[in-house]
Amino acid sequence: MSKVRKAVIPAAVLGTRFLPATKTLPKEMLPLVDKPAIQYVVEEAVAAGLTDILIITGRNKRSIEDHFDRNFELEYYLDRDGKHEMLKDVEASSNLADIHYVRQRDPLGLGHAVSVAREHVGDESFAVMLPDDIMADGSMLLRSMLDHHDRYGRSVLALLEVAADEISSYGCVEPIPFHEPLVEVRRIIEKPSLDEAPSNLAVFGRYVFTSDIFDALDRIEPGRGGELQLTDAIALLLEDQTVYGRKFDEGRHDIGQKLGFLRANIELALDRDDLGGDVAEMLRDIVRKRGL
Ligand code: G1P
Repeated sequence: MSKVRKAVIPAAVLGTRFLPATKTLPKEMLPLVDKPAIQYVVEEAVAAGLTDILIITGRNKRSIEDHFDRNFELEYYLDRDGKHEMLKDVEASSNLADIHYVRQRDPLGLGHAVSVAREHVGDESFAVMLPDDIMADGSMLLRSMLDHHDRYGRSVLALLEVAADEISSYGCVEPIPFHEPLVEVRRIIEKPSLDEAPSNLAVFGRYVFTSDIFDALDRIEPGRGGELQLTDAIALLLEDQTVYGRKFDEGRHDIGQKLGFLRANIELALDRDDLGGDVAEMLRDIVRKRGL
């Protein structure tokens, strides 16, 4: 088991791509099948052995805290009505881990959101997990990143090969070959144009950082989009210490945009024993009826 105990989940940004659904509902609370997206991320952290979760929230995000808290009234009625399976699910969501919250008062960017975690994290290494990126891999990727961090004592980023025309939506690294599936990161750049991109290796929303990232975060200036970018802090960290990338290619869902969100809902439902068969039949029926 890794020495790393803490995970930081930045959940403060406005979900403008999902308006009007996200006018009052945090986008992290949008359901994937029957669970809010952020619960998948917390469960992934817990399954990888992380026991202390810090969620960075903002205004309008209070329902995230309520979700991971007890709901005595609901529990009372489910118990009274003999709905024990549902009661188990409801209780489980409030017993997942030791969950803490801190508010990012101004949405100044992902780098700023992570810097708000400094007080809580202290001088330990920690994971950062972006809730737009959902993993359905039994926490294999995160576990492997934690193992590599423990072995080399350095930060590790998750890396995914994407199509050339997608790279400008991500942080992008220039890799130096190391022991597969690890690479050493020579350079990192936030959302490069196709011409600027040094490779098609995109940074995916899982990171394990040494606490040195906080000093780097203190030194960054507004970057791409005028925001304080985590990627720019990683670029500074690289000047002082090796940073590794862990390549992977399976199990990810990008729910930051509509199509990815819809697809994740369908695929996660297909994965479920209680729903998969019916959902497959439903999809065949839709295709047939619409002549797709
Ligand atoms: C953020 C990071 C980017 C990373 C991406 C992964 O971008 O800034 O480097 O590749 O997450 O999902 P965002 O998607 O928040 O714009």
